[in-house]
Amino acid sequence: MAKMWEGRTSGETSKIADDFNSSIKFDSKMYRQDITGSMAHAAMLSAQNIISAEESEKIIDCLGEILAEIESGKLSVDMTAEDIHMFVEQILTERIGDTGKKLHTARSRNDQVALDIRMYLRDEAEEISNLTKELISVIADKADEYKDAIMPGYTHLQRAQPITFGHHLMAYTMMLLRDIDRIADCKKRMNISPIGSCALAGTTYNTDRDFEAGKLGFDGICLNSIDGVSDRDFCAELLGALSILMMHLSRFSEEIVLWSSWEFKFIELSDAFTTGSSIMPQKKNPDMAELIRGKTGRVYGDLIGLLTTLKGLPLAYNKDMQEDKESVFDACDTAKMCLRVMTGMVSTMTAVPENMKKAAQSGFINATDMADYLVNKGLPFRDAYKISGRIVAECIKTGEVLETLPLSVYKSFSDKFDEGIYAAVDLGSCVNRRISAGGTSVASVESQIAFVKSMLKNE
Ligand code: ARG
Repeated sequence: MAKMWEGRTSGETSKIADDFNSSIKFDSKMYRQDITGSMAHAAMLSAQNIISAEESEKIIDCLGEILAEIESGKLSVDMTAEDIHMFVEQILTERIGDTGKKLHTARSRNDQVALDIRMYLRDEAEEISNLTKELISVIADKADEYKDAIMPGYTHLQRAQPITFGHHLMAYTMMLLRDIDRIADCKKRMNISPIGSCALAGTTYNTDRDFEAGKLGFDGICLNSIDGVSDRDFCAELLGALSILMMHLSRFSEEIVLWSSWEFKFIELSDAFTTGSSIMPQKKNPDMAELIRGKTGRVYGDLIGLLTTLKGLPLAYNKDMQEDKESVFDACDTAKMCLRVMTGMVSTMTAVPENMKKAAQSGFINATDMADYLVNKGLPFRDAYKISGRIVAECIKTGEVLETLPLSVYKSFSDKFDEGIYAAVDLGSCVNRRISAGGTSVASVESQIAFVKSMLKNE
C-alpha cells in the first residue's frame, strides 16, 4: 500500500521497517469505531461548512459501505497497511477519489487513534460489567441454595469459626460489585472525546468539537489538545480495574481448587468444567480454575507493561503509544473469557454439605462461642478465653468434642457451666446467633443476597 505521507520523504521504507511500524494486526479490531468516528467527523466538517454537504454525504455513504463490507467479510483488511486509520482512508479514496481525501481535514491520526481506543474500550468495559453482573447473579443463587450449609470459616487457612457456604460465597459478590463500580468510574473519564485535538495543538479550522463528541455519545471533550492526544490514563485505569477484578477471580479460583481437592471435598465441579489426566484414571482436575488463576498474572503484566511504556514519554504523541493497544485488548479479552468460564463453572458446581459439616465439627470452631457463653455468665472475656483454651486442650488429649463433652467435665473447669452450654456450642446456633449486619446467620445472608440482587437491578 502506498504511503500517505509520501512527500516529505520518498515514502520508501524497508520491508522490515514497515512490518515493525505497522499496527494493523492488532488495531484492525477497531475498524467499527474508526469508521463511525470518521462519519461523525465528516458530518461535523459539513455542518461547519468546511466541506460541502454533498461531499460529506458521499464520504459518509462510502464509509457505511466499507463498514458493511468489512462486517460481512466482503472486504478484508489489508494486513500490509500501516494501521486501520490508513486502511479505511485508502479504500475511501480509492472509491470516491478526491472527496475521500478531504476527510482528514482538521484531524490527525493522533486524535483519531485516541478517539478510537476510547470508543473501543467503553464498549469493552460495558461488556465486562455485564459479564461480571452475570457472575454475581450466579454466585448469589448458589449462596441462596447453600445459605444454611455449615462449614468452617478460616483464618491462616486454619479452622476459625463456623460460617455458611452461602455467607462465604456472598463475600465474592461484594468484591465483584466493587469491580463494576471501579469500571463505571473509569468509564466516566474514558468517555471524554479527544477528537479535534488534531496533531497536538488544535486547528485553524472552525471546527465544532462538541458536535462531534455529542454525535459519538461522549459526555464532554478533552479541554487541552496536548493532553487530548497524550492521555492514556483511561487505559491504565481500566487495566487497574481489570487487574483487581482478576485478583478476585484468582482468589475464588484458588478456593475452588482447594475445595475440590480430596483433602477438602467441599465441592464437586461439573464434568463440563474439569479435565481428566492422560495417565491417572482417578483424576478430575480443576484446570479452569487454575487457568483463571494463571491468567491473572498475564493481566497484571498488561498493566505493568503499559505503565512502563508511558512512564518516560514526553508530550505529546510518541509512537511508543502504539504499544498501548495490545495490552488493553489482551486484558479485556482475558477478563471476558475468565468471567464466562467462571460463571459456567460456578453455576454447575455442587457443594457437599456433609463434608463441610464434618470439617466444622472437628476443629473446635465453636470455642469462641464457649468463651462468649462464660462471658454471658459473668466472667471477664480474658478469663473465659483462658478456661475455654484449657477445655480445648483437654478435648484434644481425650479425643472429645465440645458438642458432647460431659457436663461434669465442663463443671470441673468452671462452676458457671450448666446444660445451656450445649445450645451455645451447637454449630447451627453458633451460625444463627451471628445476626450482626453482614454476619453469617441465615437471615443476614438472605439480606445480603437481597441487597446484591437489588444492586444488579439498579445498575
Ligand atoms: N497506529 C498509530 C497508533 O496506534 C496511529 C497514530 C499514528 N500517529 C503518528 N503520528 N504516527 O498509535
